[in-house]
Amino acid sequence: MEPATHATWAREFASTARAYWTPARTRELVGDKQLEILPAEAPLLLRALGLLHRDASMPPFEVRKYLQINHVVRLLRPAIHELAAHHSVVRVLDAGCGRSYLTLLLAWCARHRWHQRVEVLGIDRDAAVIDECRRRTEIAELADVVRFEAASLDTLDVETAWARGFGERHGVHGVFALHACDTATCDAIVLGARLEAALIAVAPCCQAELSRRWAALADAGATGAFAPLWKMPHLRREITAHLTDTMRTLLLRAAGYEVTPMEFIAATHTKKNTLLRALRRAAPNPVARAEYDALVVATGGCGLALAERLTRADQRTP
Ligand SMILES: C[S@@+](CC[C@H](N)C(=O)[O-])C[C@H]1O[C@@H](n2cnc3c(N)ncnc32)[C@H](O)[C@@H]1O
Repeated sequence: MEPATHATWAREFASTARAYWTPARTRELVGDKQLEILPAEAPLLLRALGLLHRDASMPPFEVRKYLQINHVVRLLRPAIHELAAHHSVVRVLDAGCGRSYLTLLLAWCARHRWHQRVEVLGIDRDAAVIDECRRRTEIAELADVVRFEAASLDTLDVETAWARGFGERHGVHGVFALHACDTATCDAIVLGARLEAALIAVAPCCQAELSRRWAALADAGATGAFAPLWKMPHLRREITAHLTDTMRTLLLRAAGYEVTPMEFIAATHTKKNTLLRALRRAAPNPVARAEYDALVVATGGCGLALAERLTRADQRTP
């Protein structure tokens, strides 16, 4: 869109949104929740993300996404404020950014709500999705602080990608991954640990690595107290999802992070509602590593590739 056309459209849509989002409609949407972003205040952003229709209404299906990302940003806010107290520019990687919901919401809040300079690099392996992210970013008027790169997380060189996006090589202070599939969450954790990011926040989904390993144990006729569970696909997937996140928590603690696993939104919105918030605080914690090893042994001997990857990441640190 030409700049003049965009400016006219932006003005008109903002006015439509202000008229639509009366206090009564806003109350109906938000209830008693404390949200960072209200529709009348961020119409361009929410329209860019496809969360508002042309008439500025929010379709019921989009309400869930709107609430979900609002809750994540709110939970991350104190940690970002802490980073902003130490860095004039807070640099964040959104790993597996998908269609840039969290990426843009975060950048919008930093600029318009918190008045902090936060730069965000969104990474996704899907090039078509990245094209769409760039289009959305222009509409939301955030292109000066948000860049994207089509890349796979397991081979990503963050500093080089940052330089391609922002023109200078930099490490990052925060690594986020919202519902990055399966082991892409582990990729994000490894990136964060390798870069010594002060904040790593991941909301995992489709945790399948451990389930695959348990299924292989069942196929091999292995025995043990957990053997009945190895043979029950549904329960195996459910249990290993939580066990995977427990193991991730212990491994992050072992790597020197203070980790809080928390529910970031009610399960009625999404079953994938666990957030692991990790703050780099201390020296590596061998007790947490021993707890991880004991858990692996107690449940049949299968752990996560993340354990070895984090050890290698740690050894690369000078
Ligand atoms: C379920 S979507 C979530 C997107 C976004 N974070 C959100 O919450 O809306 C997961 C995204 O992760 C991306 N992804 C999965 N594995 C990846 C990998 N190894 N490297 C880069 N992107 C990956 C997928 O392409 C997809 O867009």
